[in-house]
Formats: sequence, structure tokens, C-alpha cells
Amino acid sequence: MAGRLALITGGNGGIGTAVVRQLAADGYRVVTTCLDAEAERIDAWRQQLREEGVEVDYVVCNVADFASCQKMAEEVEQTYGPVDVLVNLAGITRDTFLHKMGAEDWDAVLDVNLDSVFNVTRQIVPGMRDRGFGRIVNVSSVNGQTGQFGQANYSAAKAGMHGFTMALAKENARKGIAVNTVSPGYVNTSMTAAIPDDIREQIIAQIPAGRMAEVEEVARVIRFLVADENGYITGANIPVNGGLFCSF
Ligand code: CAA
Repeated sequence: MAGRLALITGGNGGIGTAVVRQLAADGYRVVTTCLDAEAERIDAWRQQLREEGVEVDYVVCNVADFASCQKMAEEVEQTYGPVDVLVNLAGITRDTFLHKMGAEDWDAVLDVNLDSVFNVTRQIVPGMRDRGFGRIVNVSSVNGQTGQFGQANYSAAKAGMHGFTMALAKENARKGIAVNTVSPGYVNTSMTAAIPDDIREQIIAQIPAGRMAEVEEVARVIRFLVADENGYITGANIPVNGGLFCSF
């Protein structure tokens, strides 16, 4: 929606880039957070998007760190103005069976995937409440709904995200704020490319659609949920999983 400001954490990843493209096409001003501009080669990424006619800015921020998020939110507000749309997308995996999992694998995944949602959203929600408008999407995973081998940490974090979504949706439903979860299944990104080939083939064989999702297919759902027109879908968990997990 023309002129609205969208903040996307980890927007320079696979799904994030598709979200940036689609929201920019709808007329949003888009800002992403990134952990380390140099390591993530964000200038090259921005240049590539600029050549396509897509403008996106970034703010360096460690979403796992509350103080860093506070600073990021101040910087975003001062530079670009109030945030209308927040997409919590930053996420990592540290896959290993629980009986081999170190505390650092647990902490890293919970900090980046779940604590981050509190750290960032806590900065943004008060302004949304004051202005009486906001759209928040938390990007979870089918593996938060089903559990997955090697992902006790990731599945716990992703399941936790939707509990957060539901509570926040209720707290803010009368303030013009819609809060939802999108739970992608297996998506064609660098994250799924890191799954051992034989295991990935086994997983794809279990997907009724017979393939992984493309990033645009996930982005389209996020685009729909953050639109001004969507005020009444709130507290929902929308699956984008090719039929891998069907539920009421
Ligand atoms: N389904 C069925 N069996 C599985 C399995 C799966 N998804 N994952 C592992 N196994 C089985 C293996 O086939 C193997 O069985 P056998 O002993 O009978 O041969 C056994 O578990 C041990 O597996 P590994 O030999 O691979 O053991 P490992 O310790 O080297 O690695 C693992 C274990 C880390 C779980 C590894 O198998 C793995 O990376 N699995 C994929 C995990 C996964 O799906 N991650 C999702 C990443 S993408 C993502 O997270 C995005 C999203 O939101 C969907």
C-alpha cells in the first residue's frame, strides 16, 4: 500500500528477497535488518534489486539482542518514520539430534528464531497501538507444527512463535493490528539446500505436491496478510506446505 513502511528482519534471505520484491511492487517502502552488512554482501544484493527497479534499505541489527533491536527501531523511526508492517523472518537452523545437541545449538536457534520475535516486536507494537494500525507476520515452519528429525531446537522455536502470534493477536485486535503466522513447508532456499541430498529426497517424496515451494509462493501469502484490506484475519497460522501437513 502506497507509502506504508514495511520492516522485514532477515529480508535479504531467500524468502525475504521475494517479500521485498512483492511489497515494493505494491508501493511499500521496505527496510530490512541484516546481521552484518559486509558478511552478507548486502550492498551487492541491494544493487541487484535496484537494477530491477526495487528500492530497499537496511539497518544492521542482531535480532537476538534486545538492545540492538531497541537501537535499530529508533534508527528506523528516525530515518524512515513509523513502521506499519513488520515481518519477522530472520531464522537459522542448527540441525542435530537432541542426544548430540550442545547448549550453544539450542541457544542460538531459540535466540535467533524465537527471542528475536519478542526483541523486535516489542519495539514496534507500542507505536502501532498509538496509531491504530499495524500488520505483523511471524514466519514459522511446518516443522513447528509437526516436529522434525534433528530439529528439537528449531521445532520448539517455531512452535513458540505461533503461541506468541495468538497472544499478540488478541491483545491488539481492537487496535487495528492484525498478527498472523505463516508456516512454510520446504522451500527452495539455501536452508533446504543444506539438508543432506538423500534426506532431502526422502522429504520431497513425502510432500503431496511432489516438490518444494518457490519463495514467491510464500511471499504471496505474506503480501496478502499485511495488506490494509486484511484486518480480520488475525491470530491465524497459514500453511504453505504443498499438503505436507493438513489440519483443521
Ligand atoms: N525422515 C526420516 N528419517 C530421517 C530423517 C527424516 N527427515 N532425518 C534423519 N533420518 C534418519 C536417517 O535416514 C538415518 O536413518 P538410518 O540410521 O536408518 O540410516 C538416521 O535418521 C540418522 O540420520 P543421519 O545418518 O543423517 O544422522 P546425522 O546425525 O548425521 O544427521 C540429521 C541427523 C541432522 C537429523 C540429518 O539427518 C538431517 O540434517 N536431517 C534433515 C533435518 C531437516 O529436515 N531439516 C530441515 C531443514 S530446512 C528447514 O528447517 C526449513 C523449514 O522450516 C522446513
